[in-house]
Amino acid sequence: MKKEILDLRVTHSESVGTGCVFLKAVPVEGSLPECQPGQFAQLMVDGPGVFLRRPISIHDVEGNEISFLVQVVGEGTRWLGSLKVGDIVNTVLPLGRGFCFGGEKREERGERNELSGEGAGVSSIHDSYSTLRQEDIISLFSPLSSLYNKRPILIGGGVGVAPLLFLGKRLKAKGIQPTFLLGARTKEQLLRLDAFREVGEVLVTTEDGSMGERGFVTQHSSLFSSLSPLHIYTCGPSPMMKAVARLAREKGWPCEVSLENRMACGVGACLCCVEDTTTGNRCVCTDGPVFNINDLKW
Ligand SMILES: Cc1cc2nc3c(=O)[nH]c(=O)nc-3n(C[C@H](O)[C@H](O)[C@H](O)COP(=O)(O)OP(=O)(O)OC[C@H]3O[C@@H](n4cnc5c(N)ncnc54)[C@H](O)[C@@H]3O)c2cc1C
Ligand code: FES
Repeated sequence: MKKEILDLRVTHSESVGTGCVFLKAVPVEGSLPECQPGQFAQLMVDGPGVFLRRPISIHDVEGNEISFLVQVVGEGTRWLGSLKVGDIVNTVLPLGRGFCFGGEKREERGERNELSGEGAGVSSIHDSYSTLRQEDIISLFSPLSSLYNKRPILIGGGVGVAPLLFLGKRLKAKGIQPTFLLGARTKEQLLRLDAFREVGEVLVTTEDGSMGERGFVTQHSSLFSSLSPLHIYTCGPSPMMKAVARLAREKGWPCEVSLENRMACGVGACLCCVEDTTTGNRCVCTDGPVFNINDLKW
């Protein structure tokens, strides 16, 4: 999958939740390269003391329009949040390796780790493993397999919901109905619920109980019902993803997590995003950001 350096023109900028911005943009010239759910873009930003690009997940792609959900936490995201319709932002995309879904292997979609052949090989074993577990073993032995296979659960916390909309849409396009389980501290911090509702069932937890079930996403009753989900995809704050991964391990559910380690180059050159995995140190920007929990020492 070819990475491109592309100028995007902002077509929509909207404040959402608390301190977040929903941006849509189109290439100034030509077409968007093919992007996969879970991949990210490096956005060039401007501002005092800001010189590195900032990694932002691909929130959605509709035709030639791409969208991002940005939470303002510092100078770089503040600059992104100040973009107005017509402004230009330079990007490198698509980067990294996204989620496995619908029996697809990431290598078949061209998401190879171009900078580390060895790492790519190791990942492909795990990709095949998760595909095997979901598509083959369960379907051979479980009478409820087709129901399970059609009920992946996409668990997001805070701005970590960003990559899950695109994933949900791709699952739906493959005839697999996604369920979103979205968590936040308060209802005001929940992001783009209507957009998620257009794609699948939306379940909500809030820590203060202002919407949905009170508590953390890992406490939602749907996770403990008899028709428990088989494949979990998650993105959000690290403690949340670790709790989701623990639950998935206990239940024996396949689980993929999208890590948000701090990044600089975004292409495997600076090693600042390294994660200590079961197969050694791996760059999150090229071997991830999406990892099967079997690859992580969590
Ligand atoms: C693969 C990937 C995908 C991401 N997708 C999104 C997204 O879709 N939307 C979004 O809003 N953000 C996303 N992030 C996080 C985003 O890149 C950072 O918030 C951003 O780089 C911060 O830049 P800044 O200049 O505003 O803040 P800085 O001044 O760099 O940092 C401000 C504060 O944010 C913290 N911070 C910075 N980067 C991270 C990070 N990666 N994880 C946790 N805390 C961080 C810093 O420790 C500091 O406390 C993603 C990160 C990665 C690695
Ligand atoms: S950000 Fe430089 S190696 Fe990952």
